[in-house]
Amino acid sequence: MTDANTADTGMPSQEKPKPNLARGLRTHYCGELTEAEVGQHVSVCGWVDRRREHGEHLAFVDLRDHTGIIQCVVDERIDVRSEYISRITGVVRLRPEGTANENLKTGTLEIGDCDVEILNRAEPPPFSLHDESIGGQQRTSTDETTRLRYRYIDLRRQRMQHNLRTRAKVNSCFRTSMERLGFLEVETPMLIASTPEGARDFVVPSRLHPNSFYALPQSPQIFKQLSMVGGVDRYYQIARCLRDEDLRADRQFEFMQLDLEASFVTHMEIMDFVNEAVLDATQAIMGWRPDAIPSISWHDAQDRFGTDKPDMRFGLELQELTSIFAETQARVFQAECIKGFALPGGSSLSRNRIDELTEKTKSWGAKGLAWFRVGEELSLDGALTRFMSQQEQAAITAALGASKGDLLLLIADKRAVANQVLGRLRLEVGEPDEKASRLKFVWVVDFPLFEGFSDDGAPIPAHHPFTMPHPEDLSILETFADGEASKLLGVRSLAYDLVLNGWELGSGSVRISTPELQRLVFSLLGMTDNEVEERFGFMVNAFKYGTPPHAGFALGIDRFVSILLEEETIREVIAFPKTQSGSDPLTGAPTSISPQHLRELGIRPSKPS
Ligand code: AMO
Repeated sequence: MTDANTADTGMPSQEKPKPNLARGLRTHYCGELTEAEVGQHVSVCGWVDRRREHGEHLAFVDLRDHTGIIQCVVDERIDVRSEYISRITGVVRLRPEGTANENLKTGTLEIGDCDVEILNRAEPPPFSLHDESIGGQQRTSTDETTRLRYRYIDLRRQRMQHNLRTRAKVNSCFRTSMERLGFLEVETPMLIASTPEGARDFVVPSRLHPNSFYALPQSPQIFKQLSMVGGVDRYYQIARCLRDEDLRADRQFEFMQLDLEASFVTHMEIMDFVNEAVLDATQAIMGWRPDAIPSISWHDAQDRFGTDKPDMRFGLELQELTSIFAETQARVFQAECIKGFALPGGSSLSRNRIDELTEKTKSWGAKGLAWFRVGEELSLDGALTRFMSQQEQAAITAALGASKGDLLLLIADKRAVANQVLGRLRLEVGEPDEKASRLKFVWVVDFPLFEGFSDDGAPIPAHHPFTMPHPEDLSILETFADGEASKLLGVRSLAYDLVLNGWELGSGSVRISTPELQRLVFSLLGMTDNEVEERFGFMVNAFKYGTPPHAGFALGIDRFVSILLEEETIREVIAFPKTQSGSDPLTGAPTSISPQHLRELGIRPSKPS
């Protein structure tokens, strides 16, 4: 038997390692044929991409597999049509001069004297598998529900094949990096008790324990921490997580994490591990390694970019202007905080566009948007200038570093509102700097421990309740009993997020590893001893038996791959995703189940309200 993998491809084996397995019905993949194979007798298998008649009783059949397309010259009497599954055997030859196709990898070649074996016929596909150039990218204009209903056909498109294969390569790189770093792959269960990630659980009724339910894991958080108690030392898993939350471009019910946890390390080592894994994978996919990943504190990220997930591909940093208006006569600027930024060249924005931006800022919670066009000699033009002194005008122009032709955009409000609205406005008007790297990672560190208060006055954990408070702020927690609740919001934690191009890619923290501190945090969260016992008793108990200090992280793989591939939604990098409304048009899920099945589970359906 010919070893097609090494004998015929002409590729040195270290450049393109091939499994040393026979290739079944084929000797070659379509897109892998090169001029080195000219004169060889080959067999290729795949789907008929196109058929064109070619005079003299011949037809051109383009045969496609996941590696590409090869043109085959066949007898016109053979009835092969689009998407028929065929095996074509013939001799590789150069196409006649002047007929090469530059858009094809195999564009100088064809297979002649073909013998065609139809392995299976196919109905015409419900949509074209040929992408169009949309916004400079090869994309399909077929609507997403149709694509998902026939996902098995959609997956044949070159773009989807590329996305799936890139995803697999990222996973493979992650495994290699984690294993090199001494991490052990451990699989954690899917049928568990509830997890503390803060989203809604998907639940599964138990047949053997009527009226009892398993929860599907929102993450392996509890088990990875327990594996540290169990001496695993360095755990990782490419883990499936399930959360019943509203779906968006960057969210699915089911998604995958590169999940890791390590003992006897600080947050610095965890960040180094993640840097290594993420930069290795980026390099493997993009062919270049991004710069070392910088860090910014949560507080500075809010202050400079108005968000905890700053898009660092462009500037437009928010500037503090409050003190300039300390004595102002202008009512709009008599506010707790005034901040803004200068949009280079923004003076040319139409009045309509500026009005549209103003309406947006109102819908985001601001009272309005103050704007000024910068003219000759840095003079300002805008409806509010008549209420402002010359000094105020000159001072904001200087503070924003503005030049002629810029547009100044200011918000006066409570600090949190000014930051949040300007952060969104920055994304609305800003564009990635063409000279900057396409991928801008940043670590956001020192997150607050709590993100606000629930209706019953209990603080809400910003990450999850096992997150270690910042050692410098521990005293605030310990004395909280007699202190003000609002002080709690200033308590920092040893939690960190990795952000890429303005998307939260992953997050992690150092964990609480002593039962005393864990009990204190549970009590601050308003949990009674009974509630703690009921939800996390097993965990608090485990921590009594010798728990190493430990920390961890989880990275959203779907998000990472979709950014690398410049896809706008994570659905494009998931083989079988759900629609935005949480259904699967292919299988019809979610579906009802039979009355008998319900009875077995002890469930009585209620009438839909
Ligand atoms: P967190 O909840 O922040 O942390 O999740 C980590 C990362 O998972 C991704 N992610 C999602 N991706 C797609 N669809 C979703 N619905 C979705 N939800 C989250 C994001 C996110 O940054 N156990 C902790 C980690 C730890 O502390 O070690 C956790 O799961 O990219």
